Amino acid sequence: MSQRILVTGGTGYIGSHTVVELLSAGYEVEILDNLYNSKIEVLDKIEQIAGTKPKFHKVDLLDMNALQEVFNGGNFDAVIHFAGLKAVPESVEKPLEYYENNVAGTLNLLKAMRSTGVKKIIFSSSATVYGIQESPEYVETMQTGGQLSNPYGRTKYFIEEILKDYSAMDPDFQVGLLRYFNPVGAHPSGLLGEDPNGIPNNLMPFIMRVAEGRLPELKIFGDDYPTEDGTCRRDYIHVVDLAKGHMAMLDHLKPGVSIFNLGSGKPSSVKEIVSAFERASGKELPKSIAARRAGDLPEFWANPSKAEAELGWKTELTIDDVMRDTLNFIEKSN
Ligand code: NAD
Ligand code: UFG
Repeated sequence: MSQRILVTGGTGYIGSHTVVELLSAGYEVEILDNLYNSKIEVLDKIEQIAGTKPKFHKVDLLDMNALQEVFNGGNFDAVIHFAGLKAVPESVEKPLEYYENNVAGTLNLLKAMRSTGVKKIIFSSSATVYGIQESPEYVETMQTGGQLSNPYGRTKYFIEEILKDYSAMDPDFQVGLLRYFNPVGAHPSGLLGEDPNGIPNNLMPFIMRVAEGRLPELKIFGDDYPTEDGTCRRDYIHVVDLAKGHMAMLDHLKPGVSIFNLGSGKPSSVKEIVSAFERASGKELPKSIAARRAGDLPEFWANPSKAEAELGWKTELTIDDVMRDTLNFIEKSN
């Protein structure tokens, strides 16, 4: 019998790509999302790609009664928990909303899981939990939670700690903490991708808006960092590779807490990303150098060896694949 998976945040950017992989691998999937940062049309796109439309619950994690009802009728084997607010600058302006949505939302989810005997969860964590380290190559064994620069990052750290405490209480409970590096790109069909509301904070969505002519130019935040070309370096990971990392994690969950970096291990600078986009589109992107952005670290990337050794997972797609799929998504959505 196939496993039944509840995907919170499943109409969102990373969630929708993961739902496609789950359906293609034969899992039964239900999605829970309040549609705060995603659109209901994503369900049709998922159906176009995977041939099945998952059951959808328009429910807010903060609505305990509605959440409980989903679990009472669900008979889920596992939960993949993407739902959360993720805009770093907004989290500085609205810390209470971020803690409530992300932390209290996760507590409600755990209570609903407990009451219905669901014992497996995979959580979308972030490289941000590492804070500032002596080495920019982050390894899962490094201490987390030190010198985090914003409330969003702290919600990820706190939720990781809550999941560790909960799992320590129940020896059968199985947790996968996946620390994503910088997710980018789109589904090769061009039907799914990242489409944030308002002015984007992150590099790739901003580049996309400039390329579409919806924003005048890209500002490169600082070119005087101690890196080869002076711009910050990050470990960009294609969202389809990232989605596949969740499939590998589902197969390898075991009692206790398993922690994995999901990244490529190969950082790219802002200038390298811009050049790759320009190469793929054949057009120069309007851009200028601006001041450094507060809170940015010069560089960090994943050491992905643990995921490769234990999950048998590693990234397969390149930055050029990211650019091709991003351009295809832009073309199909306009
Ligand atoms: P996203 O905003 O596209 O998806 C999140 C989804 O959760 C949205 O569809 C939103 O409507 C839903 N949601 C938010 N609060 C909810 C609530 N209270 N109840 C029900 N649904 C709710 O974001 P994404 O980029 O797909 O990120 C998914 C997860 O991965 C998030 O937890 C995010 O913090 C984490 N993450 C993202 C990145 C990144 O750069 N995209 C990096 C590291 C970690
Ligand atoms: N950048 C620009 N111009 C822009 C946007 C970004 O130059 O308009 C630069 C940033 O300064 C940074 C790089 O592009 O050097 C990447 O920035 P992003 O905002 O895309 O990504 P971050 O690495 O800052 O943030 C990511 C996730 C967060 C997470 C953080 C720390 O988006 O969720 O990593 O792990 F908290």
